[in-house]
Amino acid sequence: MTSSGDTFLPRVELTDDTPLLTNEAAAGGATATANANIALVKYWGKADEDLIIPRTSSLSLTLEGLETTSSVCFREDSTQDRLFIDDVERHGKALNRVSALLDLVREQAGVQAGAVVTSRNTVPYEAGLASSSSAFAALALAASHAAGLRLNDTELSRLARRGSGSASRSVFGGLAVWHAGHDDASSYAEAVDCPLDLAIVVVLISGKPKKISSREAMRRSVETSDLYDAWVRANPRDLERALKAVKAGDITALGEVAQGNFLGMHATMMTAKPPVMYWMPGSVEALQAVDELRQDGLPAWATMDAGPNVKVLTTASDARRVEDELRLRLPRCAIHTHLAGPGVRLL
Ligand code: PMV
Repeated sequence: MTSSGDTFLPRVELTDDTPLLTNEAAAGGATATANANIALVKYWGKADEDLIIPRTSSLSLTLEGLETTSSVCFREDSTQDRLFIDDVERHGKALNRVSALLDLVREQAGVQAGAVVTSRNTVPYEAGLASSSSAFAALALAASHAAGLRLNDTELSRLARRGSGSASRSVFGGLAVWHAGHDDASSYAEAVDCPLDLAIVVVLISGKPKKISSREAMRRSVETSDLYDAWVRANPRDLERALKAVKAGDITALGEVAQGNFLGMHATMMTAKPPVMYWMPGSVEALQAVDELRQDGLPAWATMDAGPNVKVLTTASDARRVEDELRLRLPRCAIHTHLAGPGVRLL
């Protein structure tokens, strides 16, 4: 028996006598795909570490081509969870985070069984390319479905949030705003209408896993950076300006907000004690290239997350030229365009 009929996923071999949950949905397990999102107004810092309630609201674009597909299968014969990411069995931190989300699902569904989770990424894992956003959105849908729960988008967003804050936004395609809220029920994302055809050109500086997790970097920024409070104060204004720009179809205003917001976020990390510096020499080169493109009249604004890679906001119709111009200036970097992608879905 396999965890999924989908040949894309590594097959988890369970023997014929492995008793699965009798529940119809759980018996076959469930498989879901989610796309990573890149924030234009960032989430950086928690008000509640356990519930993952952020200090500020945020806005992101879900991207096609950067995906996680996860299968979840509950097994009655074991209370242990097992996790396979890109064909490798994972233990320790990665498994603990997955098990913590599965515990929430088990609690809601009244299930005791352990689960086998198999997960495949087209996003480099833990490289600051938002792999956790797609991973936990896919896990939330697959696990809840496999356990027999049928959650609406808001409930799913709240569940995904408990795995990784940014995952709350990957429940939705295109633009999504995550309302910070003040408790578990009020902190969730929702879709935002967008008249702009947005695209993100990713400049890969390094695909290696980062040394400091975003969780640790944001905690350090909140606790030790003198600039953190200023960033929090600026954030609602940035979000308001960004949403206004989206509504007006004004890519220039949106790009300016996005670029300023990410620079502010990195300033809080760089002034944390000890500092967190994700930038590499290649990141600075890419940031300068983006400035040059804009000076030449192309719509292009940079953003970065918890890693050295640079993502360039532009429009779908300008993406090809942006990509070509960046390739000329950054010949050693892998550069790919991603258009707006879909929300989480069952396979
Ligand atoms: O969801 P997390 O815990 O991986 O944090 C994501 C933080 C940033 O990617 C840097 C910003 C964001 O809003 O996605």
